[in-house]
Amino acid sequence: MKGVVLAGGRATRLRPLTKVTNKHLLPIYDQPLIYYPLQAMARAGVRDVLVITNPEHAGHFIQLLGSGRDFGLQLAYELQEEAGGLAQAVSLAESFVGQEKMLVLLGDNIFTHDLRPSVERFSAQERGAVIFGVEMEHPEHYGVIEMEGERVVGIEEKPTAPRSNLVQTGIYMYDERVWTHLQGLEPSARGELEITDLNNIYVSDGTMRCETLRGYWIDAGTSHDELLAANVAVAELRSRGEI
Ligand code: DAU
Repeated sequence: MKGVVLAGGRATRLRPLTKVTNKHLLPIYDQPLIYYPLQAMARAGVRDVLVITNPEHAGHFIQLLGSGRDFGLQLAYELQEEAGGLAQAVSLAESFVGQEKMLVLLGDNIFTHDLRPSVERFSAQERGAVIFGVEMEHPEHYGVIEMEGERVVGIEEKPTAPRSNLVQTGIYMYDERVWTHLQGLEPSARGELEITDLNNIYVSDGTMRCETLRGYWIDAGTSHDELLAANVAVAELRSRGEI
């Protein structure tokens, strides 16, 4: 299994903090934000990891993270020339991942859940994809998952009238059919290739599974308030040795 961490985008919601730097380099308590998904990759046992970021800040990532040895990882880097959406960023990983399965983490997600059992289960499974769901009070800010029992029936990106409180986190696993599925995607109304559209292709063919994410989770990159909340939460988790 190969790992991919997305750390591009324009981060306009966090201006002016992100006017001259990349949001994944901002501090979360005692570490830059990008450290947390990389540490989660290492915990999951996925060693070969591609970091995808924008050209303006790629040099800073290389300076900060280097070969990845300090994380117990082997890092490679790829440039996303324009912020064309999450699915467009994922498509840049094709030559790195090849015909293996992959674990994709959004570079602004912080969580305590250990992904290792899920990675092992998915490695052993023949085909499909996995999303990880959490219940949120304001699901309209995320991709919202609709379930019928154990079955995922649809995912809607930031809907005005959410069908449930269950949201998809920035943790995804895909089989090698992902490269074909990505080729069929069309830009959304905001001109981006959406990860939700990619995920819905797996939903349509009945091979998408949703696992429950336990413990603490936050998408630290959505607003100044979430960034602050992440700092406070990580300080507390660290004092209890939970992250
Ligand atoms: O965190 C979970 C949510 O992440 C999901 O519930 C949503 O379904 C999913 O679309 C995504 O929503 P966000 O609004 O949080 O996405 P954001 O634009 O913040 O981008 C997420 C990460 O991907 C962030 O670390 C930056 C990176 N990114 C983003 C874009 C648009 C790229 O690397 N390239 C890009 O073109």
